[in-house]
Amino acid sequence: MINVGLIGYGTVGKGVYERIVQTKELEALLGDSVVIKTILVKDRQKTRANHEEVVVTTEWDEFSQVADFDVIFEAIGGIEPAFSYTSFFLEKGIPVITANKKLVAEKGHVLESLAKLNQTYYGYEAAVAGGIPIINSLKGVLASTSISRISGILNGTTNYILTEMIDYNRSFADVLLEAQQLGYAETDPTDDLDGYDAWYKIRILSRLCFGKWPKEDDLKREGISRVEDWHVELGEKFGFKLKLIGEAWNSGTEVIGGVAPAFLTSTEPLVNVRGVTNGISIEGAAIDQLLFIGPGAGKEATANSMVEDFLFYKRSKQYERATVTKAVEHNPYSHVLVCI
Ligand code: NAP
Ligand code: HSE
Repeated sequence: MINVGLIGYGTVGKGVYERIVQTKELEALLGDSVVIKTILVKDRQKTRANHEEVVVTTEWDEFSQVADFDVIFEAIGGIEPAFSYTSFFLEKGIPVITANKKLVAEKGHVLESLAKLNQTYYGYEAAVAGGIPIINSLKGVLASTSISRISGILNGTTNYILTEMIDYNRSFADVLLEAQQLGYAETDPTDDLDGYDAWYKIRILSRLCFGKWPKEDDLKREGISRVEDWHVELGEKFGFKLKLIGEAWNSGTEVIGGVAPAFLTSTEPLVNVRGVTNGISIEGAAIDQLLFIGPGAGKEATANSMVEDFLFYKRSKQYERATVTKAVEHNPYSHVLVCI
């Protein structure tokens, strides 16, 4: 029996619970049953559905004392206490699977080292682009492929807002509220709107593509908070679509890029990526350009990535991306960053 500990039972945590309970194929693939044993949450006052044989607790001491966890799924967000909780289990050699992009972007180097030291796994497939399997593609089937540039629409909430505002003439406030109700937005939606969420994701992707964590100052950040109607209208007049783009490339000496609102021309492959969908383009000499398009946020897509991440680890155990990257001399990307 594989005993699961679940930290967080919000949009993503509930999705993981349902995915595990409802997927009978997991047992066949793992050769063992998967059982959610204990769930750690924060708010004592919240009324929750009662799941038979699952302990739901707000006490870390109770949760951490469970002796026989085989894997932890972390879906609470933020640095602390997620960092301490994750370290605790990795130090015990227990794999931790996360959707927490902030933690991976800021402390991923420490946690990955800790996992390696303790011969276990820190998995963060779900932390970038929801349901798109970009992380394990880079570590797995593209492990030795040289990549010179990565770019994309990495935040579902802002793409949803921009699409609904531009295509259906809806108000910003209305669409933001809807994105929150649908479970797409971060607990603090300024993380989405000011570009932090996409910035964490492009940092994580840069590290994988180019073999080193970029310096914070080398990746700029601008969200959509300062986008005004006239920016959008001007773009539409000339046939451009406004998107929040994250990109990074290897200049030869460093990794450069960032997140900013950008006008995409009608020939850009990502121009038709609409709604909560994300799109990622990776470029390299051998692959020319690969495109990944799929759900960027939401319960089912994110939970699917977390469970697949664990399965991928259990079935392959060791996989790591080689440091293979080739510099590009200039930025040939055809969209124009909006300077506001
Ligand atoms: P959420 O709906 O706000 O749920 C957060 C859960 O974490 C709640 O159950 C909350 O407990 C629990 N929690 C918060 N602080 C805690 C603490 N100190 N100790 C124990 N439990 C704590 O958030 P979410 O949308 O599921 O997102 C969770 C993580 O997944 C975030 O890192 C987010 O960036 C990432 N993510 C989200 C999506 C998405 O589409 N939503 C997609 C990809 C990645 P209570 O229930 O008691 O409040
Ligand atoms: N708030 C994030 C988004 C969740 O909208 O993309 C998925 O990481």
